[in-house]
Amino acid sequence: MAVERKGRAEGKAALITGAAGGLGAAMAWMLAREGSKVALTDVNLDGVELLAETINGEVPGAAFAYAHDVADEADWVSVIERAVADMGGLSILINNAGIGGAFVWSEQDTLENWRKVQAVNIESIMLGCKHAMPHLRESGAGSIVNISSVAGLAAAPGMGAYNATKAAVWMYTKTIALEAAKADWNVRCNSVHPVFIKTPILDPFVAMAGGDEGKAHERLARGIPLKRIGEPDDVAYCVLYLASDESKFVTGSEFKIDGGMLAQ
Ligand SMILES: NC(=O)c1ccc[n+]([C@@H]2O[C@H](COP(=O)([O-])OP(=O)(O)OC[C@H]3O[C@@H](n4cnc5c(N)ncnc54)[C@H](O)[C@@H]3O)[C@@H](O)[C@H]2O)c1
Repeated sequence: MAVERKGRAEGKAALITGAAGGLGAAMAWMLAREGSKVALTDVNLDGVELLAETINGEVPGAAFAYAHDVADEADWVSVIERAVADMGGLSILINNAGIGGAFVWSEQDTLENWRKVQAVNIESIMLGCKHAMPHLRESGAGSIVNISSVAGLAAAPGMGAYNATKAAVWMYTKTIALEAAKADWNVRCNSVHPVFIKTPILDPFVAMAGGDEGKAHERLARGIPLKRIGEPDDVAYCVLYLASDESKFVTGSEFKIDGGMLAQ
């Protein structure tokens, strides 16, 4: 008799921000293939619409696409309302959208750059947690996954705004986890901290290497014990675990996906 294999995220409904490409797209594919519905949001509407269409070609009815600026509270309210209606609920929130901002030392930084990075990388996460929480609670087993960075745990010159926001994501994750635990909401919240992963966010490093992608990746890999940079699926597998009920006893934790970088 054939044994029916259940997906690792069967019956879930996930909203993923910044899902048009890079890490968000890898997470979307993995969750959809494991049985979850996925609401793909991004400022790049064409990008999420194309991805949703491609995913639906393989997993019919799994994906939905929405225009969404994560720094805009009104956008959060309307996108969550539409996603809940389309998916029949919301059990997973993946706060993935993020920007690098200007690579400048603090004396050259501008308030405009600083505020833009704060708005997209951390204010967005406050808004997402606030507006998604009632639905996550209602789902009976909710999970929030916040994408921070190794840059939230260790600093580097020229990355002040990015370091500050990613460290804030790390700590805010714990606040949310403890509030939800104290209130018995059965909603968990964890953060993920990747090192360099092959996505368009690394384009400035490729430009610094004269457009030579191989050379840029080789340079970035120098400080990493495993001697290479990561693939989007290296992060997506961790997110799948945290989003699913497999991690039901895990909350308020941070997960480094860094080839051993911060073990040194
Ligand atoms: N790739 C890496 O090396 C790496 C390492 C550590 C952490 N991260 C983090 O992972 C997350 C995903 O990054 P990525 O590598 O996939 O980058 P990416 O640039 O490939 O993708 C980011 C996505 O976010 C979207 N976006 C940007 N501003 C937005 C806004 N205001 N509202 C909604 N969407 C917006 C972009 O359109 C894009 O589709 C980010 O939070 C990033 O800081 C990435």
